[in-house]
Amino acid sequence: MVESIQRSTREERMEWIKTAKYNLFNLKSDQVFIDLLTDSGTGAMSDKQWSEMMLGDESYAGASSYYKLKEAIEDITGFEYFLPTHQGRAAENVLFSSMIKEGDIIPGNSHFDTTKGHIEFRKAHAVDCTIDEAFDTTLDHPFKGNIDLVKLENVLKSHPRQNIPMIIVTVTCNSSGGQPVSMENIKAVAAMAQQYDIPVVFDSARFAENAYFIKIREATYADKSVREIVREMFSYADAMTMSSKKDAIVNMGGFIGMKHKEMFEKASVFNILFEGFISYGGMSGRDMNALAQGLYEGTEFNYLETRIGQVAYLGQQLKDHGIPVQYPFGGHAIFIDAKRFLPELPVDQFIAQTLAVELYIEGGVRGVEIGTLLADRDPETGENRYPDLELLRLTIPRRVYSNNHMDYVAAALINVFERRVEISKGLKIVKEAPILRHFTVELEKA
Ligand SMILES: Cc1ncc(COP(=O)(O)O)c(C=O)c1O
Repeated sequence: MVESIQRSTREERMEWIKTAKYNLFNLKSDQVFIDLLTDSGTGAMSDKQWSEMMLGDESYAGASSYYKLKEAIEDITGFEYFLPTHQGRAAENVLFSSMIKEGDIIPGNSHFDTTKGHIEFRKAHAVDCTIDEAFDTTLDHPFKGNIDLVKLENVLKSHPRQNIPMIIVTVTCNSSGGQPVSMENIKAVAAMAQQYDIPVVFDSARFAENAYFIKIREATYADKSVREIVREMFSYADAMTMSSKKDAIVNMGGFIGMKHKEMFEKASVFNILFEGFISYGGMSGRDMNALAQGLYEGTEFNYLETRIGQVAYLGQQLKDHGIPVQYPFGGHAIFIDAKRFLPELPVDQFIAQTLAVELYIEGGVRGVEIGTLLADRDPETGENRYPDLELLRLTIPRRVYSNNHMDYVAAALINVFERRVEISKGLKIVKEAPILRHFTVELEKA
């Protein structure tokens, strides 16, 4: 599918972003020239996926599209049980409804915002056990998504078993920069989980990119195929939640994969309540067909090499110009270290959001803040939570932009970098929601 994109002037963009209350989610898509807000649901489907759409079976129960998807999920991930959901957070809602209760502790590696939102909404707590290396953007570590086993064991030791319903491993770890988790680390986490008798759940939106990095960076996996690595990764998990809008290259969809019948039966009740009957759960038959096909395309080595190569192509240009970026480059996005880009701005002026606004004004490029706005307030104290990293994420949609577009993005950000000393003021909040505020927050100049 080819779409046209709209040019605009700097004056227009200054007006539009002001009207949008300095929140890039409030912009209309035709006010954006290159849209790097997210890689979620923004990919281009293939000819084969579009043909699959024509074959969708829209029966309420037992549709052939459901069985096609079931077969593809089992083939790719090894999970025997599955529930379709309309997207990733819906998978979290369903699974967590059946597993998490008030006061529970859920350790993991930098839980994604919707994951954390669904944990905190249930008055439970997400504990970040990511390795410290992840928070130093200058450090070259091949698996910055890894879980620190000492931190994890401390959590497991200091809380009763009945208060730890699961350990969540996010592959790749979005919040720390699209950074992969090594197979060695996955295995060690699974072994510890088994010792403490706690289920392991993978937040799997970018599982294929994670497998690609294992192949490229973990010597013992160099000769394995991406699909073999994927199967091995999932063999260490009890369940997975999936936002299919990422590595399965569809515009909408999600699912839960499970190893155990009992877990499936418990979650089914909530799936029917929130999403729909267990054989469609928020998805139409045609969408399940496209997703089944997308799971195969998203796990092809050549595709992954090209995609991750394009992300690195953008990252390298920025790095070569001295722009501070999370390194090594992640799978789906380049993360700009906004604190190092704008060192004079105080953290309470939302540094990464300020940089996102500046990049939009400069070139009509829409990125997204992964920083204090996203971190929300502490639900108990009501105070802002200041994460170690303030990042501007430039997320690359799958199979959409060319490297020419990447050149343009790099040029726009380099222009901002060259005038960075002039950016002396950030933003302040005018209005915010109590949870997941970054989507709707309203800001003005500080
Ligand atoms: C790691 C991770 N988990 C969960 C989600 C939520 O998925 P969805 O947007 O489909 O609800 C996302 C979305 O960006 C994600 O990146």
